[in-house]
Amino acid sequence: MIPQASTPLIDPFGRAITYLRVSVTDRCDFRCMYCMSENMTFLPKKEVLSLEELERLCVAFIRKGVRRLRLTGGEPLTRRNIMELIRSLGAYLKAGDLDELTLTTNGSQLSKHAEELYQCGVRRINVSLDTLDAERFTAITRWGRLEQVLEGIDAALDAGLKLKINTVALKTLNEEEIPSLISWAHERGMDISLIETMPLGEVEEDRIEYYLPLSLVRKQLQQRWHLEDIAYKTSGPARYVRVSETGGRIGFITPLSHNFCADCNRVRVTCTGKLFLCLGQEDFADLRAPLREDLSGRLLDEAIVEAITRKPKGHDFVIEHAGAAPALARHMSMTGG
Ligand code: 5AD
Ligand code: SF4
Repeated sequence: MIPQASTPLIDPFGRAITYLRVSVTDRCDFRCMYCMSENMTFLPKKEVLSLEELERLCVAFIRKGVRRLRLTGGEPLTRRNIMELIRSLGAYLKAGDLDELTLTTNGSQLSKHAEELYQCGVRRINVSLDTLDAERFTAITRWGRLEQVLEGIDAALDAGLKLKINTVALKTLNEEEIPSLISWAHERGMDISLIETMPLGEVEEDRIEYYLPLSLVRKQLQQRWHLEDIAYKTSGPARYVRVSETGGRIGFITPLSHNFCADCNRVRVTCTGKLFLCLGQEDFADLRAPLREDLSGRLLDEAIVEAITRKPKGHDFVIEHAGAAPALARHMSMTGG
């Protein structure tokens, strides 16, 4: 076991920070229309932390009481040699310094990596999937191929990983397909979370056109199925129901129509070492300078402790009206979901 720092990270509102999301790359092999513009400018490689630096960063948080790590992107599995980082972090899991190591992925590289992920100690992953229709899949992701993702999902299930599907609810695009996605997931023993679009980063489309409030989706689902509210909680912000008929769970992630900040236990770090205290706020702390300047890790520790004192009570984004600029300029692919 690594020695724990004496003071865990507690923010000004009494929330213990035990969950870190790390975006290991801002790049992705897809260009989902609600997430990225078609010609994205990515961060210059020299600004991006090396895999060793990302590991040092994660370890600094583990020493301060973080028990769960989620790797995100962009697409985490497109980062070169990412399995090296996952293997190193897996060792902390095996030593009892971490409770969970997981990732959010678009599934495109899963066939290649599923077994090794399991061997590294990963047990659960989230896979983003908005449709089961090949043409529509390409319309939404622009560059993605459905078949490749479905193969990835099968490989992950075969490897023994538990999967949760993340589906962004999109008016007119996948709205009428949501029930069949749910049935499909539940038949395979996978939970599914529905997500409302969030106003993060410039994209070509006007998000309000596709914005579909989950309160509406839920009403429609209730005409077909019996949904029981359940107390089930993961470390994420989803509210869960169980579908009596399928036995599976549906999570509702409603950042816009519902305030989910009160029990937020998480912070996010980008692949350039920016620590965001809240998905819906601009404020961040730079951890790259202290990380690079001081190999002892003392400056990094101080920067982390100082940043947590600035964690805000909650976000305040709304999709205001047609044509409105995004609430935040930064894309989801910078900080991950
Ligand atoms: N709003 C809502 N969800 C988004 N995602 C990416 N960008 C957005 C956005 N602007 C989703 C992805 C993935 C999860 C990590 O976040 O589809 O499922
Ligand atoms: Fe890539 Fe995920 Fe963004 Fe789609 S939503 S472009 S898969 S990072």
